[in-house]
Amino acid sequence: MSDPAAPPTQIKPDDQRPEHPDFWCKRFGEGVTPWDAGKVPAAFADFIARQPAPLNTLIPGCGSAWEAAHLAELGWPVTALDFSPVAVTTARKILGNAAVDLVCDDFFTFAPPRPYQLIYERAFLCALPRKLWDDWGQRIAELVPSGGLLAGYFFLCDQPKGPPFGILPEQLDALLTPHFARIEDVAVDDSIPVFSGRERWQVWLRR
Ligand SMILES: C[S@@+](CC[C@H](N)C(=O)[O-])C[C@H]1O[C@@H](n2cnc3c(N)ncnc32)[C@H](O)[C@@H]1O
Repeated sequence: MSDPAAPPTQIKPDDQRPEHPDFWCKRFGEGVTPWDAGKVPAAFADFIARQPAPLNTLIPGCGSAWEAAHLAELGWPVTALDFSPVAVTTARKILGNAAVDLVCDDFFTFAPPRPYQLIYERAFLCALPRKLWDDWGQRIAELVPSGGLLAGYFFLCDQPKGPPFGILPEQLDALLTPHFARIEDVAVDDSIPVFSGRERWQVWLRR
């Protein structure tokens, strides 16, 4: 039972809580999106070009969804998912008529119609407060069956205040190694300033 004499807990407004869509709606609405690369990153394009066949792909927290447009151009089946309606409106403008399944829903609760062979990560994990990281790891493992891949950019540094929230290599390993094995890990040379020198391209194979 709570102590009636205790001071009221300070709860931040929704647009100051990154776990809430309003946080992101405000920033997309005001055009303040310093994480947005405005392009298809090189390691992603290279990885996609190396795949022998299209993979059913999920891009969680897709934001502007540049990469979804690239996959659709190549004829890949792709779902771009974001829980911010304003982000989804932004993505819709960028995607035009591209054959992308653009979904406004919460990564942690949406019901996928079928399993994904690839989940692409960029600036989504680092957008999540630390208290959601375990759930992220479990949800990724749930969405990708054995033989599937998680590939993308990871913001590896000690930056507890965010977003972007940095994750240490050993913390990322703790989230993923129960279900995945890392099969690629390289430095990134086309980072935008907010991530520069602190992100790596990694690919993880679901066991
Ligand atoms: C930092 S932005 C990155 C956007 C994009 N991935 C990029 O690289 O530009 C994080 C995005 O994740 C979305 N997001 C955060 N939590 C989410 C959740 N639980 N479900 C779906 N989208 C979420 C936000 O709305 C925002 O568009």
